Amino acid sequence: MSSSYEVYPSLETLLDRALALVLENLNAAIATRDRFTLALAGGNTPKPLYEKLAQQDLPWEKCHIFWGDERFVPADHPDSNERMARQAWLDHVDIPAANIHPFQTHFDTPAAAAAAHETMLNQFWQTKAPDWPVFDLVLLGMGDDGHTASLFPGTDAVQVCDRWVTVGNKDGNPRLTLTVPVLNSARSVLFLVAGENKKTVLQKIFGPQSASASYPVQLIQPIGSLIWLLDAKAGDGLSLSSS
Ligand code: 6PG
Repeated sequence: MSSSYEVYPSLETLLDRALALVLENLNAAIATRDRFTLALAGGNTPKPLYEKLAQQDLPWEKCHIFWGDERFVPADHPDSNERMARQAWLDHVDIPAANIHPFQTHFDTPAAAAAAHETMLNQFWQTKAPDWPVFDLVLLGMGDDGHTASLFPGTDAVQVCDRWVTVGNKDGNPRLTLTVPVLNSARSVLFLVAGENKKTVLQKIFGPQSASASYPVQLIQPIGSLIWLLDAKAGDGLSLSSS
């Protein structure tokens, strides 16, 4: 695994770099495997990146879009990560509907939805646990509590290592999430972290006491490349060493 950390003066410049990296990964994947598999981050940070992607003229028919996690709400709910990505990007490009692979949140229970998503992923990658899917690129955010995807500190989901998909929990609200082993099987993982409110947890994760820290984001050690893109509000002053 190679890891690197890049700090940018603003969210805008951070996302310009993120766009360049997504395109770099897309072009490499299509050149090598004639397809690009991408798992999206939810939340607010990536939305302008998705809006930039909507302006790109790309071989969308060779791109397959997944999500790293989803809130257990209807696809048209304001909190839906799928809704955000479709409105910002996917509804504006000529990507086949069959190439978009959202979590199905219409099931009666989160567990049923997680199982159904795992079955879909198994069929797409033609394998199942204890083998793992290999996403070309996974986009991740980080909360100010050090969670990523829907792997929240102190929850069972963080420990799940025998399934591809599990049920997360944020303050009692169910979430659907890819598991740590799946995220770590990616060829590339790209963290997009911006804002003053992320600085404290970043200092704990990357500071002198990091060995005693235990945040879910620290479990993300992909076999491929790991790149952290930070804006100055979140990342200035951190002692970050690439490897
Ligand atoms: C979600 C995300 C979550 C997000 C972080 C950061 O469903 O909310 O997957 O992990 O990436 O909470 O969110 P912001 O980008 O809004 O700070």
